[in-house]
Amino acid sequence: MSEKSKSAGGSGGLAGVVVGNTSICTVGKEGHSLLYRGYSVNDLADHAAFEEVAYLLLNGELPSASQLADYQARLKAQRGVPQALKDILEKLPADSHPMDVMRTACSALGCIEPETAENDQAKITDRLLGIFPSVLLYWHHLHQSGKRIDTLAPEDSIAGHFLHLLHGKAPSELQERACDASLTLYAEHGFNASTFASRVAVATLADFYSGITAAIGTLSGPLHGGANEQAMALIERFKDPDDAEAGVMKLLAAKEKIMGFGHRVYKVRDPRSDVIKGWSKKLADSLGDDKLYRISERIEEVMMREKKMFPNLDFFSASAYHQMGIPTGMFTPIFVFSRTAGWASHIVEQRADNKLIRPSAQYVGPEPRAFVTVDQR
Ligand code: COA
Repeated sequence: MSEKSKSAGGSGGLAGVVVGNTSICTVGKEGHSLLYRGYSVNDLADHAAFEEVAYLLLNGELPSASQLADYQARLKAQRGVPQALKDILEKLPADSHPMDVMRTACSALGCIEPETAENDQAKITDRLLGIFPSVLLYWHHLHQSGKRIDTLAPEDSIAGHFLHLLHGKAPSELQERACDASLTLYAEHGFNASTFASRVAVATLADFYSGITAAIGTLSGPLHGGANEQAMALIERFKDPDDAEAGVMKLLAAKEKIMGFGHRVYKVRDPRSDVIKGWSKKLADSLGDDKLYRISERIEEVMMREKKMFPNLDFFSASAYHQMGIPTGMFTPIFVFSRTAGWASHIVEQRADNKLIRPSAQYVGPEPRAFVTVDQR
């Protein structure tokens, strides 16, 4: 096998292989910034609401104040869960992983409210952005306490809607802002694995829901979106920073991966990490308990010192979410609430200039051989 085909094949995981054009997002020429439609994700996370960012990704331009208000109202009107979907959510096991619930709900909604000329991709995008937090929390509360919650909430933002349904009361301004910023940071990331899966699905002319369902399944793995849950499992096993340092040194000696570190695209730093780290610190200060934050910071130091590795977005998201009272199993579903904007933008872009995505593989199997009937083997 030539070096080139090897790097594009099974062992190379398509690293560095350009598989298409996109005008939605880039990590910049030097590969350590992140721009959505030309705007820095850091500026967006600091100054824009997530809905502004979703509008930007989907429409190519930032909304005016009135466009934003209309858009938020439109998304807010999509929070109701149809009875047919509630029935399905009620039948799912209480111990399902929340990502499996999200995947199933998305697919089921494709049967209940199928894509048609009327119910087009723009309407379905609004619907999914509006309904996903409702779906997760309806399932969660029913199976935790037998309560069939009303999935509407007064907050205009998706972050506020989610936190209100989760805790049964209005979130603090700090919690809502932190969660909103995290949605912005997670919203889009080029041809990452889940987005690529969504583009492959719709390139066959499959429906919109198939693209998003494929993406949710792909996101769930610990090498992709599932890393934020694994990062939480790591940091909560340590009692203090010294214990974390000793534990991480042991894991590294055993050649184990530390979840929430490293990145396929970024080689120097993940520009999103400092933003979420800042929110994690503010949340820790507001709680008057910075144990998780200090443990996380020590792990960051050890990974830089020992491996020259930096935290990716998932690492400090873990402590930030935990400090908002969010159960670990919901960390990756929050990624779904947000990345739906990115996936939908890519599906629209793929469909606008579609070509079936069907690469080739280097064959490494047996040479041609004669067939022998079963009684002769
Ligand atoms: N902890 C410890 N070592 C790590 C590591 C981590 N988180 N991530 C990568 N490495 C090491 C690998 O062991 C490998 O070492 P080797 O060359 O001695 O075998 C080397 O760095 C390259 O790793 P590899 O997994 O081949 O790189 P990749 O580009 O395929 O993987 C990730 C990128 C993100 C999948 C990888 O860094 C990872 O698994 N990180 C943890 C999961 C995670 O946080 N995912 C979220 C990504 S946003």
